[in-house]
Amino acid sequence: MKISVIGAGMVGTDIVSYLFNVGNFSEIVLVDINNEKSYAEIMDFRHTQSLFYTKNTKLNYGTYKDCKDSDIVIITAGIQVKKGDTRESIAAANSKITVEIVKELEKYTPNSILILVTNPVDVVTYFAIKHSKFPAHKVMSSGTLLDTSRLTYYLSTKFDIDPKNINAYVFGEHGKTCFIPWSLCNIFGVNIDTFTKINNFPSINKKEVEKYVVDSGFDIFLKKGNTNHGIAASIYRIVRAITVNEKSILPVGLYVNNIYDINDIVLALPAIISKNGIEKILKVELNEAEKEKLRDSADFLKKIINTVKI
Ligand code: LAC
Repeated sequence: MKISVIGAGMVGTDIVSYLFNVGNFSEIVLVDINNEKSYAEIMDFRHTQSLFYTKNTKLNYGTYKDCKDSDIVIITAGIQVKKGDTRESIAAANSKITVEIVKELEKYTPNSILILVTNPVDVVTYFAIKHSKFPAHKVMSSGTLLDTSRLTYYLSTKFDIDPKNINAYVFGEHGKTCFIPWSLCNIFGVNIDTFTKINNFPSINKKEVEKYVVDSGFDIFLKKGNTNHGIAASIYRIVRAITVNEKSILPVGLYVNNIYDINDIVLALPAIISKNGIEKILKVELNEAEKEKLRDSADFLKKIINTVKI
């Protein structure tokens, strides 16, 4: 199993750390326009290899050519949001960079599954699909998996229970128009409002929870200049679903056409993730207000896409 990571910044490097230390791969390749940076990061990882009984994974750095025959390629390269920017303000620049990258990957590793991380992730994933030969079911983004994880974390602090027992999700854009379909939110199978009432937990303030989900990435960004651990773990979660052929249902960013009256856009909805990539996009029972929120998210993304000329 070979996996390549494009972009040796904080996020790309943190992803390599998960792949190397937690995963099981025969080869990991790190590519960056700054070859010295990818060399240095990989050497630093290589020096850890004799300290533990780790796998003898080949750790390489290089160019797109070195990504040849990767099972999965993870794209993190792009310009970073600076203080005062929004994820959308870098849409044009990062869509252009992403299209250049996927065109290179198409030459050397046309059968890979692509996972996009670069922000604004829904927009760049849309252009990656539109401007390459990679089939849509093999191109996905981290979507709202990290937002979902932030949601279950936050709820778990309110109830003081394991976040893994909380079934709650975020759908739509990875950004400010994402939304929580509360009608699906349950704890151990019991609707969250009923659960709270019958177990005498204090009721939760849904507006406050929604605000936390949208703002918490920016809060970290403002205090340390970027986020990396959460997104790297989210990407590794998707990689594991693919490599183990788990068929897990994850809210990844995927190409949506003719679902809930939404057409030709990338946003996050639940899908079965397998060794084939997006095995099946799943429908859930959303109420009318939730469907409206999903359409609002799609409209917002469409507006950004329309400002980008490739
Ligand atoms: C975040 C970045 C990955 O939300 O957008 O942490």
